[in-house]
Amino acid sequence: MTDEEDDDRTTMLALVHDPDTHSLTLSEVPIPVPTGPDEHLIQVHAVALTNGELKWPEPATQTPAIPGYEVSGTVVEAPNKSSPFQPGTEVYALTDFNRRGNACEFAIVLTSELRQKPEALSWEEAATVPLSALTAWQVLFVHGGLTLPNEPVTRPPTPPQIYSIVVGDDVNANKRVLITAAAGGVGLWAVQLARLAGVGHITATCGPANVDFVRSLGAHRVIDYTTLRNTGDAGSSSVNPREGGGSGRNSPSTTHGRTRSSSQSRYGSYYSSDKYDLVLDCVGGDTLKRAWTSARHGGTVISIVMPPDKLRPETGVGMDVRGVFFIVHADSEQLQAITDLIEARAVKAVFDSAFQLEQYEAAFAKVQSSHVRGKVVLRLA
Ligand SMILES: NC(=O)c1ccc[n+]([C@@H]2O[C@H](COP(=O)([O-])OP(=O)(O)OC[C@H]3O[C@@H](n4cnc5c(N)ncnc54)[C@H](OP(=O)(O)O)[C@@H]3O)[C@@H](O)[C@H]2O)c1
Repeated sequence: MTDEEDDDRTTMLALVHDPDTHSLTLSEVPIPVPTGPDEHLIQVHAVALTNGELKWPEPATQTPAIPGYEVSGTVVEAPNKSSPFQPGTEVYALTDFNRRGNACEFAIVLTSELRQKPEALSWEEAATVPLSALTAWQVLFVHGGLTLPNEPVTRPPTPPQIYSIVVGDDVNANKRVLITAAAGGVGLWAVQLARLAGVGHITATCGPANVDFVRSLGAHRVIDYTTLRNTGDAGSSSVNPREGGGSGRNSPSTTHGRTRSSSQSRYGSYYSSDKYDLVLDCVGGDTLKRAWTSARHGGTVISIVMPPDKLRPETGVGMDVRGVFFIVHADSEQLQAITDLIEARAVKAVFDSAFQLEQYEAAFAKVQSSHVRGKVVLRLA
């Protein structure tokens, strides 16, 4: 809304979700009016969609309900002159699931959710970062027991320096981490951040078309999940022709040829011997069951799909393995740390495909296929 014509507008185009029928329609709805001391009005340029979001309970309470919780755009109105995000600032954000989403021309975003968009990223790339990267960050460093450096991650001038800031922690170097759906929105961030944090060994799973991509993100070992059997033969996954080579402290080269543990359940695990300190499940179902049996004694299974205890196998899991489920929250300090890593070219944002807002049906069909590399984006202005 920068010219007179825009000033007269009171309505905008929005993708409206009916939570009862799960139908989506493009509708004219009132442009939101910022009222609170932290509320900024932004013009939305791109919004990323998340698999399963149309079934989440929180957004369904909004009228109208609008999907899309990670967004990039330009500030149109700031609440006051002291806001760091004045009109014209290019920003990105994860917005609260208890408010309307951002698949609309204009949206309200709070100071605590906003950060300046990394200059190197397109609108589409930027929109894929906040929800997915913050989820991965909170998996690893808030719930997963990995450590961050004592010093705050500051904006380093070159990538090598950020490596020296982040890497070098013995706690992380002694950890083995398993990440499922590593080519998905959250998984690709989890692999990159775990590698940057100096994790000793990272195994990641994905489909056959994504093996090289996931290896390029920093996984020491990559497993094509389509070659795993799920029939009760737990040992079937022990050595896989598509696995990448390992270079971590607990390199898989030291594990080949070992026989499977007698404690494994019929769901199988991702490895027959060395297990994982931290397992991130981004899939649910049988993959989550397999995640449980892949965790070592004292390890942690984090599912971002569902509370993992619901699918904890009765056998093959140590009594002291704990399950964690959480819902990501906006944290602008964490988003700044991620922004710094992006600016330093230490990590990359990836989007699978972008659609115009009017192509929302095709976009959601792609998201719900569960076979995307990174996120699917809707383009607006
Ligand atoms: N709790 C939270 O706060 C939170 C936050 C973010 C997301 N989530 C949830 O987390 C889940 C993951 O979302 P996402 O955006 O990261 O990814 P996604 O879009 O759900 O997953 C896409 C990826 O999954 C892979 N995949 C499909 N089936 C697989 C299997 N059986 N084993 C391994 N990989 C498999 C695909 O690989 P191929 O194409 O190679 O087959 C694809 O790269 C969703 O359910 C989402 O709702 C929760």
